[in-house]
Amino acid sequence: MGDFYVPHAFSHIDAHPDPVRLVNSLYRLRSEPFFASYKQRLRELLQARPGQRFLDVGAGTGDAVRELAAHTGAEVVACDLSQTMCAEMKHAGVRQVAVADSHRLPFKDAAFDGAWADRVLQHVADPGRALGEMLRVVRPGGRIVVCDPDTATQALNIEDHRLAAKVLVLRQTTSIRHGTFARRVPGLLTARGLLDVEVEPRTLLVRDKHTVDGTMGIRDWADTFADLGHLDRSEAQRFNALLDEAIESGRFLYSVTYFLTSATVR
Ligand SMILES: C[S@@+](CC[C@H](N)C(=O)[O-])C[C@H]1O[C@@H](n2cnc3c(N)ncnc32)[C@H](O)[C@@H]1O
Repeated sequence: MGDFYVPHAFSHIDAHPDPVRLVNSLYRLRSEPFFASYKQRLRELLQARPGQRFLDVGAGTGDAVRELAAHTGAEVVACDLSQTMCAEMKHAGVRQVAVADSHRLPFKDAAFDGAWADRVLQHVADPGRALGEMLRVVRPGGRIVVCDPDTATQALNIEDHRLAAKVLVLRQTTSIRHGTFARRVPGLLTARGLLDVEVEPRTLLVRDKHTVDGTMGIRDWADTFADLGHLDRSEAQRFNALLDEAIESGRFLYSVTYFLTSATVR
């Protein structure tokens, strides 16, 4: 079984039978060029300066917290719902860590010069409310950056397109709570009166065996859905065989678009 075999695993990491696997999956993703590249852009969009104070909502392993502080000299606070992730961050040297739910951030109004959430709002129960909390804790003139994939933009090429589409729909409906929230963020920020609202699409393209097996969890998708009763076992076996065949023949392609949205609080 792979890293993502519990539905909504990243919504409740501490309830996962093996949360350390989720910690390790975040470290693996971070080393992929696609993730390193958009994370660097996310850092730039925060426009942090020395002495300013920033908040990473759903900070995970805290890599981005350490990197923003190291690159800009800003003070960076991390929060995450998961005790496992918070312990990992402290172990890795992040000094200001709070176990906190994004729906109720334990910070005063306008306490930060900026806040970001990277691949978090898709997993929370009420992403609109969590976004509202981020706006509350950032001062006027401060920066907001949100990044999530839009699961309705997924494309997967194996020989059986109908089966591929079925698995992708299951990923949208059972693995991630709010797979299309990312496309709504620019409009929500505009409606709240934020300034400089900008969206950058970033498409993750996977064609190689290493990334299929080691990073994205694609290899486990069909078996997971069969275990949960959403897919016949024979369909899962067929999916896996077609996946192998597609990778070996060079036909395999998976892509999904991430939306990186930034804005300034008025
Ligand atoms: C996919 S991970 C992304 C972590 C990190 N932002 C990164 O870019 O690597 C999602 C994170 O959101 C956290 N999370 C999920 N629901 C949350 C909530 N309601 N409040 C705060 N954090 C939450 C999870 O514990 C997990 O660490």
